[in-house]
Amino acid sequence: MSTFRSIEWKGDRLVLLDQRRIPEAKVFLELTAPEEVAAAIREMAVRGAPAIGAAAAFGVVLAARRGEALAEADALLRASRPTAVNLFWALDRMKRVWEGYSGAAQALVQALEAEALKIAEEDVAANKAIGRHALELIPDEARILHHCNTGSLATVDYGTALGIIRIAHEAGKKVHAFLDETRPRLQGARLSAWELRELGIPHTVIADGASGHVMQKFGIDLVVVGADRIAASGDTANKIGTYNLAIAARHHGVPFYVAAPTSTVDLETPSGAAIPIEERDARELTHCGPVRVVPEGSPVYNPAFDVTPAELISAIVTEAGIAYPPYEKSLPALVRKAQGG
Ligand code: MRU
Repeated sequence: MSTFRSIEWKGDRLVLLDQRRIPEAKVFLELTAPEEVAAAIREMAVRGAPAIGAAAAFGVVLAARRGEALAEADALLRASRPTAVNLFWALDRMKRVWEGYSGAAQALVQALEAEALKIAEEDVAANKAIGRHALELIPDEARILHHCNTGSLATVDYGTALGIIRIAHEAGKKVHAFLDETRPRLQGARLSAWELRELGIPHTVIADGASGHVMQKFGIDLVVVGADRIAASGDTANKIGTYNLAIAARHHGVPFYVAAPTSTVDLETPSGAAIPIEERDARELTHCGPVRVVPEGSPVYNPAFDVTPAELISAIVTEAGIAYPPYEKSLPALVRKAQGG
């Protein structure tokens, strides 16, 4: 079975699989400076909440190797994308290593490298644990609807929601994934389909607008999506279109699950209203590749994420277990458990 790392640390450089080029080409970027890492995150060569957190951590290591001001690298990386809290969570972890450090520069580089590698390895372990916990939620034969890309590409390896589909498949369950194409960046059509094809997992790509129809016509057993930030209330920011999907799932009585590591849970943010939502360049909507598809002069609005209210979420699967409503109680308990408390 094919597997690959979207992010690999080579000791002196960060190697990223350029996700803008999938599926037509497998191109690797070799980054040696924090500005390059920030640009890769901003331009979505690397994307997906856990993946950008890990990439940013290595961005700090690169700055330290070059003897650059770490506070500046930290600020640059924090400014790359606003919604996924994993970015800030990873940079906070790195900051706890470098802030106030007074020893030898070489020892600091080593300590930062060790922390970044720990962030990356913990992500892989968390994703596998998420998949194992979720097995009890997946019927032996399941039609599963998925949005965006939450697989190996979106994480350090394995994936969250797509990882659940993978583990269920590997456990011998007969799963069929319906993949929302996920406009405008097509993470579902380009990336999730590519991953499931590589893994030999049965799937069908659908237009985003087809999800209600597919629930009505084929009977979807569950929806599973990832998350970019989960507020203390359980309100969840994820790729634009997730909220519509949750509404359709509720109408059809389909369980709607969110899968994410506890590094995506932001207990400091009380509810979805306080989650910053990234707006991206209008060109993502006005053009299909080089071709303009929106008339010149028509205004567009291009939010990259939306917030699904907690009341539409049946459960949140983390590496520490499954949180059920009321999330105000279940989420802090799982975060404590994940931190060893
Ligand atoms: O804009 P993207 O492609 O970075 O958005 C990604 C998502 O919304 C994912 O669902 C989320 O980050 C979880 S990835 C495990």
